[in-house]
Amino acid sequence: MVSAAPTVLLTGACGYIGSHTWVALAQAGYRVLGVDDFSNSSPAVLTRLQRLTGQAPAFKQANVCNAAALETVFSGQRIDAVVHFAALKAVGESTAQPLAYYANNLGGLLTTCRVMQAHGCRRLVFSSSATVYGAPQHLPIAEDAPLSATNPYGQTKLVGETILQDLARADAAWRHVSLRYFNPVGAHESGLIGEEPRGTPNNLMPYVAQVAAGLRPYLQIFGNDYPTPDGTGVRDYLHVVDLAQGHVAALCHLLDGGDTLTVNLGTGRGSSVLEVVNAYAKASGREIPCHIAPRRPGDVAACWADASRAGEVLGWRAQRGLGEMCGDSWRWQITRDHRADTQNQSAVLFTGR
Ligand code: UD1
Repeated sequence: MVSAAPTVLLTGACGYIGSHTWVALAQAGYRVLGVDDFSNSSPAVLTRLQRLTGQAPAFKQANVCNAAALETVFSGQRIDAVVHFAALKAVGESTAQPLAYYANNLGGLLTTCRVMQAHGCRRLVFSSSATVYGAPQHLPIAEDAPLSATNPYGQTKLVGETILQDLARADAAWRHVSLRYFNPVGAHESGLIGEEPRGTPNNLMPYVAQVAAGLRPYLQIFGNDYPTPDGTGVRDYLHVVDLAQGHVAALCHLLDGGDTLTVNLGTGRGSSVLEVVNAYAKASGREIPCHIAPRRPGDVAACWADASRAGEVLGWRAQRGLGEMCGDSWRWQITRDHRADTQNQSAVLFTGR
């Protein structure tokens, strides 16, 4: 007997990481359902997902805090697992609006889990972050390193992981994988999907992309007096398509009956701000003017992953290097401003009942 492809629900499905994971799951043969409220994404992503997957996306516009809306997604069909991306993610904004972050990030996780539980679905992949390591004491950072949160965004990831651990302790049927992402960058090689920051980018690579494109005059380098080889901050940049493959591996693990896990997703290699700038200049063929600015409050000097557990338990390893991350980011940057479908709502098949 041929068994049906597993059905996976993605929350935050049209966002940066959600959309790349949608493509990776569809290519791996999963049936994908998407939910997104478009608070930080665009309906145009659905058109591009259709082009990339060759299938009309099964999608419902909904906020994950809305239990009734999630109910309509679960009723009438079997969902084997959920990948929960939907969350607010700007560190500075979280400090200014803690209530919004706790309500959305924790309320959304709780609502998703409660609706899952009511429908007998107990397999979840959770988008966590290396932010849960706070200021790391040892490098590379392994999963058993001390945890701390320095802002409400980080706190929501830490508490989110704790909620899932409590759930797993209370009910052995619940299994989850918390994926601690390091610094996702880059875009799909097609140039069709990528990160779409609204307003001024908070993170390094999208800012560098806009400087290379001439949309911003220069990059401010936040500190060149860190105890790192060139004095600038060091991070573990990870291609978003590798990250998406990490979700496929985590789902495979859960659907094969694997245990609850907490896993770093990173390359295991750090790059400095100056290395990123140089790699981007090479990939784009553009100059990236830079000014040295004071350190950004809350930044750590260096952070990179011990990525060995992901290799051992999930069989996952990052494949793409910094040059490819910059090249794909640049392709996305130069094509996105000229795209005609940006304003068009795409046709969708699944809208719930
Ligand atoms: C930031 C978040 C972190 C989140 C991660 C997601 C902060 C303090 N931390 O981490 O919680 O999980 O993004 O990817 O916001 N830099 C510049 N100029 C810029 C922007 C950044 O020099 O205009 C430097 C930073 O000082 C840092 C490096 O580039 O050394 C990377 O910064 P960024 O992309 O914001 O990532 P994180 O600081 O690692």
